[in-house]
Amino acid sequence: MHLPRLLIIVSLTLTLSSATSPAHRRRRPTPKQYVEIKRPLPFTSLTPSCTLPVLSHDFGNTIGLPSTYTHYNPPINCTWSRAAINLSVAANGTQKNRIAAVWLGAVEILRTSTPEPSTGDSFWIIEKDVTKYSSLLRQPNLTLAITLPNTVNGIFTGFYQLNLTFLYYSNDTSTNAVSLPLSLLPKTDESTMEKSEEIIRILDENYSPNAYDSPADLIIPISAIGGEGFWFIIENGSDVKQKELQIPLNTYRAVIELYISFHANDEFWYSNPPDSYIEQNNLTTGRGNGAYREVWVKIDNSTVGSVIPFPVIFGGGINPLYWNPVVSIGAFDLPSYDIELTPFLGMILDGKVHFFGLGVTDALSFWLVDANLHLWLDDNGVVVKAGTVVSTAPSVSIKRKSKFNKLNGKFKIKVKRKSEFSGWVSSSLGNLTTSVSEKWKFKNEIQYKKKGTYKDVEQKVTVKTEVEVESCDGSDVYSTTVRRKYPLEIKTSNVTGSEVGKYSILSDLETSMEEKRSSDSFTSSLVNTQKANGTMHVDYRVVLSGAANTSQSYSVSDEFGCYSRQVSAADGYISNDTRSVLCASSL
Ligand SMILES: *[C@@H]1O[C@H](CO)[C@@H](O)[C@H](O)[C@H]1NC(C)=O
Ligand SMILES: *[C@@H]1O[C@H](CO)[C@@H](O)[C@H](O)[C@H]1NC(C)=O
Ligand SMILES: *[C@@H]1O[C@H](CO)[C@@H](O)[C@H](O)[C@H]1NC(C)=O
Ligand SMILES: *[C@@H]1O[C@H](CO)[C@@H](O)[C@H](O)[C@H]1NC(C)=O
Ligand SMILES: *[C@@H]1O[C@H](CO)[C@@H](O)[C@H](O)[C@H]1NC(C)=O
Ligand SMILES: *[C@@H]1O[C@H](CO)[C@@H](O)[C@H](O)[C@H]1NC(C)=O
Ligand SMILES: *[C@@H]1O[C@H](CO)[C@@H](O)[C@H](O)[C@H]1NC(C)=O
Ligand SMILES: *[C@@H]1O[C@H](CO)[C@@H](O)[C@H](O)[C@H]1NC(C)=O
Ligand SMILES: *[C@@H]1O[C@H](CO)[C@@H](O)[C@H](O)[C@H]1NC(C)=O
Ligand SMILES: *[C@@H]1O[C@H](CO)[C@@H](O)[C@H](O)[C@H]1NC(C)=O
Ligand SMILES: *[C@@H]1O[C@H](CO)[C@@H](O)[C@H](O)[C@H]1NC(C)=O
Ligand SMILES: *[C@@H]1O[C@H](CO)[C@@H](O)[C@H](O)[C@H]1NC(C)=O
Repeated sequence: MHLPRLLIIVSLTLTLSSATSPAHRRRRPTPKQYVEIKRPLPFTSLTPSCTLPVLSHDFGNTIGLPSTYTHYNPPINCTWSRAAINLSVAANGTQKNRIAAVWLGAVEILRTSTPEPSTGDSFWIIEKDVTKYSSLLRQPNLTLAITLPNTVNGIFTGFYQLNLTFLYYSNDTSTNAVSLPLSLLPKTDESTMEKSEEIIRILDENYSPNAYDSPADLIIPISAIGGEGFWFIIENGSDVKQKELQIPLNTYRAVIELYISFHANDEFWYSNPPDSYIEQNNLTTGRGNGAYREVWVKIDNSTVGSVIPFPVIFGGGINPLYWNPVVSIGAFDLPSYDIELTPFLGMILDGKVHFFGLGVTDALSFWLVDANLHLWLDDNGVVVKAGTVVSTAPSVSIKRKSKFNKLNGKFKIKVKRKSEFSGWVSSSLGNLTTSVSEKWKFKNEIQYKKKGTYKDVEQKVTVKTEVEVESCDGSDVYSTTVRRKYPLEIKTSNVTGSEVGKYSILSDLETSMEEKRSSDSFTSSLVNTQKANGTMHVDYRVVLSGAANTSQSYSVSDEFGCYSRQVSAADGYISNDTRSVLCASSL
């Protein structure tokens, strides 16, 4: 099947955009909706106890301009225990994919990107649970900022219109309606009130599987000073962004949350060849440095943790036709990454200023990174003390193999990393020792064949993180194991036509986000896989036509129940969409 003649300009990053072509000059009768496939938030089908619209703004030519600000004040006379944001976005023309973020008091609460809308009206809705930022959401007079650098010109006409609303949910039955999410409906036939109580019980008991996991009491941003956004712009591997912080003396737990996105020469970092290949073939691309990146956190110059980010693909990535209307995993709500820092409290719980540093191994320009330090405070007036038990530098082995002859070649990177940190904290909860052990395996293989016109990228990331909290007598207070896998494979062929400037890109992609969590009281699992294949015909960086198939299989099982969804999309439309709230075990 072929799309109607599309006029899409492909930049070096394959960003999609389009000038009006005859077939598209007429507006779509109904606006087009883009979607990121995931489970609806379980509690958003309850009636919120309060709704607070905070910002409504059109982002036209915003590049280089300051963020858009407003004042945030928590809703008055509102009882709530959970909160969500609803970001409703519309575009009224062709536009490139753009990156955006929302900060509350300089603390990032959402990183998002736009698809590449074409002519006409389009929209999408992003709902996100922000309960973990509760302490912040209860503070008056905060600055809320949104940054969305966009450019409007004769070709890229689209303005992005954003409406941001906060929704607050109460666990008080009387204020909740009884429209229950299907996945939470009790199996037995009970009265609606009982159902409502049931859902609230599930939310209360299981949403925070352990009191230890409740929202932090204080969140300190490790972010830039604002201006054009509070994210740090990291331009290379030696670019370290630092912030001096003094943490409260009554802190008994600390977690750092990282927000990460990668752009320009590192937008597809996982497919970058080593520099030797680029240099010896006299290529002009800036996309080198090999295919390994690690975002790290240091305190006073010692590494306390790092992550390999999930490869979120933006709306123009690989083949722009793939992400219409189903966007790639994480494109609307980029994942953030938590690192348990409690074992390091012994280092920083001294009333002194410490340096928190963020950086990206082997980065090329540019990465947008910032962090939130979540702190839990002891308000019982006891003196909190902490000490380090085990803190050895992580053991890392990086093996790189590179073999090429002109444009054909094979590059392999294998990384193994193991870390173990442990520290005690004595507070009114007792003298607890937190141990964090983490093992990683990273494997990346890039193959070029057919004079470099065929490229196969295969990457596997496997991470196992164990957090264990023990009391003095050795009994477990809390323990959790998280296993993550991010497999990715992308094959592309560049078929050159007989005419100068004309070529076709055939590609095939598979990406997956898999996560299994287990602790004493619960287990959860998520498998979210996308497969796409297709062709695009390009003439001097303009996509004339193409065909694309995207399918996604999403399945989650946790304390809220089960939810699975299978979606197929082709050439801009969803062709098959099936949902189920049945758990595999009950089938
Ligand atoms: C979010 O906003 C959109 C657009 O206003 C609306 O359709 C949707 O129902 C809202 N979601 C929630 C959970 O309120
Ligand atoms: C808040 O609720 C109380 C008790 O119902 C009421 O007296 C007060 O006027 C309310 N305040 C506002 C600002 O609505
Ligand atoms: C934003 O809100 C305004 C006013 O309610 C509404 O007219 C507009 O359609 C909304 N836009 C989006 C993208 O939800
Ligand atoms: C898009 O919206 C902006 C702001 O409302 C408006 O100025 C612009 O003319 C609109 N563009 C199109 C193509 O409708
Ligand atoms: C709110 O904060 C601003 C600065 O961020 C300050 O100038 C203003 O006085 C504050 N208002 C109140 C009511 O605290
Ligand atoms: C890395 O980036 C920083 C920030 O832009 C710059 O000051 C520094 O010179 C760069 N270093 C190298 C080696 O390019
Ligand atoms: C790259 O350029 C150099 C110098 O111009 C030339 O000697 C060499 O043959 C070129 N290599 C390739 C693979 O084209
Ligand atoms: C961290 O390292 C840098 C460069 O190696 C050095 O200049 C700085 O003083 C160190 N900072 C601390 C807090 O040790
Ligand atoms: C807490 O326990 C650790 C060993 O588990 C011990 O070394 C430390 O002295 C204890 N701290 C306090 C304040 O009792
Ligand atoms: C595909 O090959 C053509 C002709 O060699 C080249 O101009 C074009 O940049 C290549 N496209 C991509 C996306 O690699
Ligand atoms: C994608 O793959 C399917 C099954 O392998 C094949 O039938 C289809 O033709 C391919 N589509 C494109 C556009 O390459
Ligand atoms: C739609 O998807 C479901 C589940 O993957 C499958 O069983 C069904 O046959 C598909 N229907 C069509 C029309 O392709």
